[in-house]
Amino acid sequence: MLRFAVSVFLCFSTVASILSSVALSEEITCSGLVPMKDRNDKVSIKDFGGVGDGKTLNTKAFEKAIDKIKQTKNTGGTVLYIPPGVYLSETFNLTSHMTLYLAKGAVIKAIQDSENWPLTAPLPSYGRGREQPGARYQSFIHADGVEDVIITGENGTFEGQGEKWWNMYKEKTLKYTRPSLVEFMNSKDILISNVVLQNSPFWNIHPVYCSNVVVRNVTILAPYDSPNTDGVDADSSSHVCIEDSFMSIGDDLVAVKSGWDQYGIAFGRPSSDITIRRITGTTQYAGIAIGSEISGGIQNVYAEQLNLYNIGLGVHVKSNVGRGGFIRNITITDVFIDGTVMAIQYGGKSGDHPDDNYDRNALPFVKGITLKNFVGVKVEQAGDLVGLEGAPYAGLCFSNISLYSNKLNGPTSTPWTCSNVTGGSHLVNPGLCGALSSSC
Ligand SMILES: *[C@@H]1O[C@H](CO)[C@@H](O)[C@H](O)[C@H]1NC(C)=O
Ligand SMILES: *[C@@H]1O[C@H](CO)[C@@H](O)[C@H](O)[C@H]1NC(C)=O
Ligand SMILES: *[C@@H]1O[C@H](CO)[C@@H](O)[C@H](O)[C@H]1NC(C)=O
Ligand SMILES: *[C@@H]1O[C@H](CO)[C@@H](O)[C@H](O)[C@H]1NC(C)=O
Ligand SMILES: *[C@@H]1O[C@H](CO)[C@@H](O)[C@H](O)[C@H]1NC(C)=O
Ligand SMILES: *[C@@H]1O[C@H](CO)[C@@H](O)[C@H](O)[C@H]1NC(C)=O
Repeated sequence: MLRFAVSVFLCFSTVASILSSVALSEEITCSGLVPMKDRNDKVSIKDFGGVGDGKTLNTKAFEKAIDKIKQTKNTGGTVLYIPPGVYLSETFNLTSHMTLYLAKGAVIKAIQDSENWPLTAPLPSYGRGREQPGARYQSFIHADGVEDVIITGENGTFEGQGEKWWNMYKEKTLKYTRPSLVEFMNSKDILISNVVLQNSPFWNIHPVYCSNVVVRNVTILAPYDSPNTDGVDADSSSHVCIEDSFMSIGDDLVAVKSGWDQYGIAFGRPSSDITIRRITGTTQYAGIAIGSEISGGIQNVYAEQLNLYNIGLGVHVKSNVGRGGFIRNITITDVFIDGTVMAIQYGGKSGDHPDDNYDRNALPFVKGITLKNFVGVKVEQAGDLVGLEGAPYAGLCFSNISLYSNKLNGPTSTPWTCSNVTGGSHLVNPGLCGALSSSC
């Protein structure tokens, strides 16, 4: 018992000294992209009839409050304060120059009513809903064409009540594509921080056709078997910063996307300049996913300091015939993996098509993916790297990667499989295959 207490103490003091040394040194961050702002003008949802009893429907209160903020035209913007309590609501739209502030204990809870849930047009870069043809259900928290919006608070919660939607997906009774929890379209200068998002019906945070977006210090939770509950999907968006967050969800933690086959190619909006840093999380899918929807192109992605445990795949780069587009200049570094089916998967045949009219000759162009400084323990297989015939994944570099089947310094994990991939490696254990065994 004493020994246990001592080792726990040592463990805590080590953690404490690591934390304080982190706090002392200037922490690298991209969050300066959209700084936190104080706004002098403040209103409370209570001023508009909001009732946080978990039963009263607050849609009208949110609409009235946000409409008031829209009319105010105060250049400094307005805070909409949500006091502690559970505020049940249907979907509502945010407006520019506002802060949605969730106090400690404040919960904005989505109603479970798929019958009356409003629909919105499909995204032009997808040509249809991601799951079902035609329209899609509007995200719970929605914004189109806004700027200077902050969602923050004291760890308040967006509760998506996704279970009913997950069951509809499983039972194949969905009429349209499920709603995301928070979606920003055509927007800029967006900051989401210090909140919890849980039980999203579908993707959690979806910035699409946006620029200057910061997601920082958020917690995203959904059951491990909840379908498609991706954490953050940066989609045809540029200058996106995702940092210091914890995610335990049912699909990819962070995915970078840019439209789907012929619709994404025609729309032609890439995702670029995406920074991902200090993310801890678990899912049966991927820690970092690039794709599979990459038809507008994806470039300049930098991810570092990822702590992935019980993860299906550490890194997953996925594309397919018909996607077109490109993936270039991706760097992922300083990754610790504890428990994975496969540390790294590059796939040229992943992801479905919107319809049969995709262009069989539209091959994605993949060049320049560097992975370095990875350590993995309890890794079942190192990796499966499969590019496309006729469009090999090129310029791949793997450097300083050590993957073990059980504990550190134990035996190395099952090796790699490679086909249609070119590039090289340096200090990788187990050693890489084919063309990748030369140096880079
Ligand atoms: C919310 O915004 C969408 C457009 O993004 C619009 O179609 C819808 O009518 C808006 N809802 C309300 C209640 O204003
Ligand atoms: C992160 O958010 C929590 C509340 O959710 C807050 O207490 C803490 O200060 C935040 N940390 C930073 C660095 O903003
Ligand atoms: C915020 O809430 C989440 C979920 O309940 C919890 O795991 C986390 O520790 C909380 N963070 C802070 C700073 O209170
Ligand atoms: C590659 O991406 C990084 C960000 O990760 C960026 O700093 C760099 O300028 C990019 N290189 C090119 C050639 O665009
Ligand atoms: C190799 O990667 C590990 C884990 O990230 C790191 O601690 C170490 O410094 C790296 N070595 C070199 C030579 O960069
Ligand atoms: C590319 O993949 C095809 C089938 O997937 C395979 O037949 C071919 O040998 C591969 N080429 C190389 C160079 O690995």
